[in-house]
Amino acid sequence: MKVLLIGATGNLGLRLVAALLTHNHTVVAFVRSAQKLQNLVPESIYRQISVVQGSAKDSDAIKRAILDANCDAVVNTAGVAAMAPWAKGDLPEIFKAVVEGVKDAGEERKKPLRTWFLAGQSVLCYPGTQSMLSDFIPIFLEHRQNLSLLHSLPPNSIDWSLLCPNTMIPSSATITVPASPTSKLSASATVPPSWKDSWVRHVPLLGRRVVCAMNASKYKTTLEQNAEFIAADLEAGQSQWSGKTVGVIDESNV
Ligand SMILES: NC(=O)c1ccc[n+]([C@@H]2O[C@H](COP(=O)([O-])OP(=O)(O)OC[C@H]3O[C@@H](n4cnc5c(N)ncnc54)[C@H](OP(=O)(O)O)[C@@H]3O)[C@@H](O)[C@H]2O)c1
Repeated sequence: MKVLLIGATGNLGLRLVAALLTHNHTVVAFVRSAQKLQNLVPESIYRQISVVQGSAKDSDAIKRAILDANCDAVVNTAGVAAMAPWAKGDLPEIFKAVVEGVKDAGEERKKPLRTWFLAGQSVLCYPGTQSMLSDFIPIFLEHRQNLSLLHSLPPNSIDWSLLCPNTMIPSSATITVPASPTSKLSASATVPPSWKDSWVRHVPLLGRRVVCAMNASKYKTTLEQNAEFIAADLEAGQSQWSGKTVGVIDESNV
């Protein structure tokens, strides 16, 4: 696929450049600074991609980038959610602009774009309930408004999926193609995979919060694993994750 990668200079974005090339996609990197990207990836990789400079807060620029390069898919990793419930990050503004740009481009090309967005585990549901994990541990709340925006879209305007990882760490500082193999991720829609529930959940008020905290540490994954997951899904074409929030876990922690 021809993929517009928004936020290619970020931690996940850099690994996605490598993973997308490894899966034979054509990469169009959308970044604020082409020079910064060139400094961050090896010359042999930079030569294989095309680069568009612009702000992810500019929905027209995103629409133009998609249509000019004739992209079939988009991955947005730009913007970071604020952790504290009272803090403000730039993610909601970026997310809204990207959604608008992708939707408008889809309307113009008369085919919705396959698009991966990023959120965090906080918007997954506590298994067996309709409540989000952030109802119990109220952090990264900006992801909730982004998910509401996706749910409010008219049908067939964006073929979206929302990846909801817990903390992602680098397995290597080096960006290489083919991307270095790591153990794979196991995934599930709507809820975290392999959740361990406990009788503790029945303790009034605090029970489910404690179970969330007990589970949290096993959901750490690597940036490379998440990049590989998205790149492989786009290569497969038809996706089981369309219209879904997606929780992930390192297979070795299942
Ligand atoms: N890292 C984690 O552990 C983790 C866990 C769960 C979810 N997430 C989510 O995953 C996503 C990616 O995380 P990350 O660690 O890769 O973030 P990151 O390293 O901070 O990267 C953010 C990227 O956004 C770009 N950006 C910011 N404002 C922009 C704008 N106006 N126009 C274009 N690009 C802009 C930055 O570009 P510049 O280089 O120009 O600044 C950078 O490439 C985030 O949404 C984060 O909330 C991360």
